Amino acid sequence: MDNLKSHLLGLLRTRSPEYVSSEQVCKSLGVTRAAVWKHVQSLRAAGYEIEALPHHGYRLLTVPDRLYPEEIAWGLKTAVYGREVHYFNRVESTNAVARELAGRGAPDGTLVVGEEQTGGRGRLARGWFSPAGGGVWCSLIIRPPLLPSEVAPVTLLCAVAVRRAIRQVTGLDVQIKWPNDLLLEGRKVCGILTEMSAEIEKVNYIIIGMGLNVNIQPDHFPAELRDRATSLLAGGGREYSRCRLLQCYLEQMEELVARWMKDGLEDILAEWKQHCLTLGRQVVVSTVREQFAGVAVDVGSQGELVVEDRQGVCRTFWAGEVTLADNLPPLFSQVAP
Ligand code: BTN
Repeated sequence: MDNLKSHLLGLLRTRSPEYVSSEQVCKSLGVTRAAVWKHVQSLRAAGYEIEALPHHGYRLLTVPDRLYPEEIAWGLKTAVYGREVHYFNRVESTNAVARELAGRGAPDGTLVVGEEQTGGRGRLARGWFSPAGGGVWCSLIIRPPLLPSEVAPVTLLCAVAVRRAIRQVTGLDVQIKWPNDLLLEGRKVCGILTEMSAEIEKVNYIIIGMGLNVNIQPDHFPAELRDRATSLLAGGGREYSRCRLLQCYLEQMEELVARWMKDGLEDILAEWKQHCLTLGRQVVVSTVREQFAGVAVDVGSQGELVVEDRQGVCRTFWAGEVTLADNLPPLFSQVAP
């Protein structure tokens, strides 16, 4: 959105629900009536409902359900995160764009957001269903002063941030499945995909890709996902503001990363554990090399999962896919062929 249009929107928004006279708008923008009219038309085309009444002026009636940078900025309480936004109506993958931008030096806190992803990426080379307007599909570039070996907990921290944001906006309680899936009534509502660029001695940047299913009707999920995926709409029975969710997420992320840098991870990990449904459960952890079954006994200080098998052998996992296996009777531990 160009500066004048954005200025006009700000003016209308600040004064809403009052009218702003045409003279006031012309004066504030320093343009003619005809130019104002052109910008009003273009805001309308972007989905803003603006009333124009002779002798009264202009009045903003509704804003569109879009994740425009202006919508994200309005009321956002962060200092840095989400202050620079790259917005796409349709994009292959926000993580791919973020990686490119980060490589070209995009600053800490840069956000890439798309209304729709045509090639959304999930963990373990899976795809991520990202229909237009159905959720928050975004990637946040952060540049904390960390060693590569210190980065692992960032996904846990992100899960805590999303959980808090969902709770704040919807009142819904979601649970966390190690390492960073968020589940609502046992189905996945949010996934996190973290990528990093580092040298031996320092992290250049971390990209946190977050996909949150917000206003997707249950029967709109592809058939193969229907049993496993859900949305906030499906869980809460109503639509929610994607923009508000994204703002809260950015605010929580900024606060949690600052706390992590200042005081360490202890409190954040405690909060993560409090809402984690993996701990104490029988699980099967699948990695590229093997499957290991046992009880998830702990999550270590860097977010690693400790699983103990029947023989009392403990294994530590830094990555992998966890299947909750309470209903699978014989516990097994095996190396894949
Ligand atoms: C998972 O498999 O659980 C992780 C899913 C992450 C999806 C998000 S949507 C925004 C960002 N862009 C992508 O291509 N993927 C992540």
